[in-house]
Amino acid sequence: MLRISQAMSYFPKRLGHSWFDFVSFNYLRGRRRSKEKTGGQQLVYFGKLLHQKAFVSATDGNLSVRLDDHRILATPTAIGKGMMQVRDMVVVDETGVKLKGKRDVSSEIGMHLTIYKLRPDVGAVVHAHPCTATAFACAGIALDEPLCSELVMTLGSVPLAPYGTTGTAELSESLLPFIPYYNAILMANHGVVAYGKTPCEAYHRMEAVEHFARIVLATRQIGKQMLLDGDQIQKLLEAKHRYGVSPSGAGK
Ligand code: 13P
Repeated sequence: MLRISQAMSYFPKRLGHSWFDFVSFNYLRGRRRSKEKTGGQQLVYFGKLLHQKAFVSATDGNLSVRLDDHRILATPTAIGKGMMQVRDMVVVDETGVKLKGKRDVSSEIGMHLTIYKLRPDVGAVVHAHPCTATAFACAGIALDEPLCSELVMTLGSVPLAPYGTTGTAELSESLLPFIPYYNAILMANHGVVAYGKTPCEAYHRMEAVEHFARIVLATRQIGKQMLLDGDQIQKLLEAKHRYGVSPSGAGK
């Protein structure tokens, strides 16, 4: 009679693999699936938040998370961000080729991939059209006034990238000079892109941009702005190390 240990070694050997290869393959496949599931849950959760906060309307915006060095999980194109399910998500490789998923990936996946390529510290990207920040982007005004101490410490300033047609390489190219140095960028006549180590950090940065835009707008309506001076900014830059956020876009 065949012993269990003999049976275990027989099957994989016939396939040219050891039993260990067989087990570790299943283990790795399980880990990949669980990463995709967790990533999908995060994209669904933060997509809902984007919609609840009115940072997007209809099918605006897109989100993605880096699964590993070669795979990105992203939202599909033309879907309401408040109505997504984990099964809607799409896995692409670092060049944008679809590896998994029933739907077509976001038309702006190129922008996400460019950010992942230039910023190895980034693990998630969020793109949305929050009203006030997008109004500044449409007026051609960067959010770069040193007005709020909190924002100087966390985001720094938010530059304005020139206009690029949505869903084309032009859009990614317009962001190229800014990506290494900033964690959130206004996109002229379009919206905002923010990124961070996790989907939560990327979402928080999106929220901070819109909040700051509202404050800047209010000071412009009041008709007076008291900008922080060079000394105060320097002290805030030192304080931010203690606060636990990175000095530039580079992440801590
Ligand atoms: P996708 O639906 O293709 O992700 O595009 C949405 C969007 O916000 C375009 O700017």
